[in-house]
Amino acid sequence: MKVGIEDICFYTASYYLDLQVLAEVHQIDVEKFYAGIGQEQMSMAAPDEDIVTMAAAAALPVVEGQDKSAIRTLLFASESGIDQSKSAGVYVHRLLELDPACRVVELKQACYSATSAIQMACALVVRQPQQKVLVIASDIARYDLDSSGEPTQGCGAVAMLISADPKIMEVEPVSGLYTEDVMDFWRPNYRGTALVDGKYSTKVYLKSLKHAWLDYQQQGGHAFSEFNYFCYHQPFTRMAQKAHSHLLKQVGASLSTAEAEAQIADTLSYNRSIGNSYTASIYIGLTSLLENAEHDLSGQRVGFFSYGSGCVAELFSGVVQPGYQAHLHKDYHQTLLARRQSVDYATYRRLYDYPNPVDGGEHAIAAETTGPFRLAAISQHKRIYEKTAS
Ligand code: CAA
Repeated sequence: MKVGIEDICFYTASYYLDLQVLAEVHQIDVEKFYAGIGQEQMSMAAPDEDIVTMAAAAALPVVEGQDKSAIRTLLFASESGIDQSKSAGVYVHRLLELDPACRVVELKQACYSATSAIQMACALVVRQPQQKVLVIASDIARYDLDSSGEPTQGCGAVAMLISADPKIMEVEPVSGLYTEDVMDFWRPNYRGTALVDGKYSTKVYLKSLKHAWLDYQQQGGHAFSEFNYFCYHQPFTRMAQKAHSHLLKQVGASLSTAEAEAQIADTLSYNRSIGNSYTASIYIGLTSLLENAEHDLSGQRVGFFSYGSGCVAELFSGVVQPGYQAHLHKDYHQTLLARRQSVDYATYRRLYDYPNPVDGGEHAIAAETTGPFRLAAISQHKRIYEKTAS
């Protein structure tokens, strides 16, 4: 039985900052951002957008037309959670009008947890193949102003329907795993922004790739030569290029620079404009590959390297299915990216500094998002979500 991704769709926020603006303010050569870290823009959430509204907007095209009673599990992956107790997925469950006979839970392990959700979803589907699992990853990446991480912010959500009818990609069963207790990036409960040891985090990422690949081989995974493409977690797109060079060296592959670049290039396009979306980033990378590759990817094997600081990493593979093109949401994504509004530095600061009231009062939030759902208010410590007219 094949199990994997039946449908995949992403969403990002209404605004973006071009990194040219940040470079001017910080008096840095913009090529450090455009070429050095491989980022051009970063999505910024409007005050009435958050991980819930983005998640619901990503999942809406996936659940439309589905028999909702078949979706008996919703797994919500995030590292920018809005509540210590209630799963953000429960709000999304209501906004999407899913069947009440559904289990909903939130998963956390930095940028890795969406991959864990996919693996758990595949296991559930193997057990009960008539059921489908909705996996949603949604995050807002926030670093301190003037920190090395500031140009690597961004936000986005991706929704994937996991089923025994994987019209997009079969997920193959072998995985390589690596876990180590390290402090490269973390966010204590009392902080709104992540703490990060930037250079160290890139080293741990590469070390984890090496160990996950070794474990993948020990578990009986495919040889490097059996892969056509690789899709990496992309905190910034240059990280994926560094990771791929690292893997090529490790396996002793003799590819030309152009051949090596071709294995990852199409996975990078969307994230160059969206920025880091933490848990969602690797699967926005997959969408980018599927929608931007010039030729038919049917039957092609994609390697995935998922990394979550702290750290947990997993390397696994998927095979793109014949006819996948008919099930993509390319127009939805390209319209979404094209209609985002560019902001100046003052607006970026307004969005960055938007207050997060903790006093239990009544806080109405003005309508700004262009998306289908919005955070309308925070009232007596409760987040009030509603559909918009769009
Ligand atoms: N033109 C072209 N390139 C330039 C340039 C210019 N004018 N100026 C600098 N560069 C290049 C540098 O040579 C460097 O290239 P190499 O990496 O190939 O050496 C690159 O631009 C970056 O420059 P710096 O090393 O000086 O950059 P930095 O120290 O200011 O920031 C960073 C880099 C530490 C990774 C920072 O972006 C950061 O802290 N990011 C957040 C943490 C992160 O994303 N870590 C990734 C692994 S952890 C993870 O993956 C989980 C997650 O999502 C956070």
